[in-house]
Amino acid sequence: MSAIRNNVFKLNNSVIRTSIRNKVTLPELKYKFTDLEPFISADLNTLHYTKHHQTYVNGINDALEQHAAAKAAGDLKKCVDLQQNIKFHGGGYQNHCLYWESLAPQSQGGGKLPNENSAFYKAVINQYGSFEKLIKIANTQLAGVQGSGWVFICKNTNNGAVEVVQRYNHETASGHLKPLLALDAWEHAYYLQYKNVKVEFFSAIWNVINWEFAAKKFDA
Ligand SMILES: [Fe+2]
Repeated sequence: MSAIRNNVFKLNNSVIRTSIRNKVTLPELKYKFTDLEPFISADLNTLHYTKHHQTYVNGINDALEQHAAAKAAGDLKKCVDLQQNIKFHGGGYQNHCLYWESLAPQSQGGGKLPNENSAFYKAVINQYGSFEKLIKIANTQLAGVQGSGWVFICKNTNNGAVEVVQRYNHETASGHLKPLLALDAWEHAYYLQYKNVKVEFFSAIWNVINWEFAAKKFDA
């Protein structure tokens, strides 16, 4: 996300402070939504991307714009009041960006386990015994989300461990937990195609998970 840049201009011996910010936009994707079928339908992903993700794009841009105005006006209360909006929409924006990167068509390696020589592959086998076990744990976490939330497969940067964590709303994994893969457990992520049977969505999504992307992120 672009940071706010405060620029100072001198004009007629007065100093005018302005905030210039590049607005965030939907990320460019490396695949077409039809390429994720039949596991995730093009209609579902199109709705998810063009409507739901776009909502968070609009929301974070609006919140940051209001924050910049409040900051310029010295309105501390307004700045504080806006924090929840920034966290919600900023988290929604970032989590969805990682979600799209977590997916890949099978023609581009989606669903294929990472290279056996990768540190990520070795860490998963060492800790969990198999990727099937890791997936089972993630699916249990996904099914256990009450309401809206996410499950992240993360690298614990303190000890190199692979961890599965559950978050509510648009909270994200942060600090020593570096998210490698993001799995969306919001109803809007599956309802159009899977209706109320969300476990079928959580089962199907592994067919298009980009494990190689996770392995690269694990090393970065
Ligand atoms: Fe979503």
